[in-house]
Amino acid sequence: MMACSIAPGKVILLGEHFVVKGMPAIGAAVTLYARVCVSSGQGRVESRQLGLLLDLSSNTVNDKGLYRVVEELAGRFGLKRDFHATIDSEIPISSGMGSSAAVAVSTTHALLSFAGVEPDKKVVWEVSFEAEKVYHVRPSGVDNTLSTYGGVMVYERGVFNRVKRRWPDDVVIVIADSGIKRSTGSVVADVLNRYDKYSNVMSRIYEAASELVRDALKSIETGDFARLGELMDINHGLLSSIGVSSRVLESIVWAMREAGALGAKISGAGRGGIVIGLVETSKVPSVVEKIKLLGLTPLVVQIDDEGVRRAPDSRTSQG
Ligand code: MEV
Repeated sequence: MMACSIAPGKVILLGEHFVVKGMPAIGAAVTLYARVCVSSGQGRVESRQLGLLLDLSSNTVNDKGLYRVVEELAGRFGLKRDFHATIDSEIPISSGMGSSAAVAVSTTHALLSFAGVEPDKKVVWEVSFEAEKVYHVRPSGVDNTLSTYGGVMVYERGVFNRVKRRWPDDVVIVIADSGIKRSTGSVVADVLNRYDKYSNVMSRIYEAASELVRDALKSIETGDFARLGELMDINHGLLSSIGVSSRVLESIVWAMREAGALGAKISGAGRGGIVIGLVETSKVPSVVEKIKLLGLTPLVVQIDDEGVRRAPDSRTSQG
């Protein structure tokens, strides 16, 4: 028997950085997936693509987060060491898209299914959060929450609220990975230093960011995506003002805007990583073309509404 599961990655639509000081942020699960298939074996989890290996029979462990997943499932459900899990992922790594969370979520889901335990989402969330605690010092829970449940969520001080309105099919998100790697921790530290140095000015920028997210939430709920795009542009301006943009990121943002995106901004920590554009389907070809001219590979995604789920075994069907 083979059990396969997929779990989505995510983007932050609005509010990154400001969220560190308690302001609200909006994140969305997107249609890029980590995929895990489990069959009979001897306690092995591996991904050649991600360079990841857990071999319980020889005590080889190069991913402590996934080891935590296995330990947690053994403790809670008596998971036996009779599995062989293989992982593939389409989610860009180290770019703030929640790749590690999606891997932990899909692995938990697939291991439970293989063991004949119904993979309850609450359990998947709890177990994957244990892995997130291994990967990140103080994880917000945004990544594994979106990967487990899917959809668009507002996050504020540890509380998640799902946006009820369904995202329309004719508005997509175009992602351009700048390919520039940076440490989220050091960018966050620089921003916090700037906050301390200019706290009178910065506190007002943070208040504006908070208002902006509330306004954006209304725009999503009323289906006003032109307005949402403009608010994303404003959010980008605020991110520039706190010091996380760069010449390269600006060029990507402006390429998207010039090609007709409703709005474009840095998503995540900035200084590198990804830029997202809110794009009507009719404008996708021109936005994609512009990004390619910059030598980058655009990813066009929709919102994933479902979160983690069973997937067909690719040996028997496609998809
Ligand atoms: C990074 O993806 C998002 C930040 O807001 C940091 C954080 O929320 O932990 C920059």
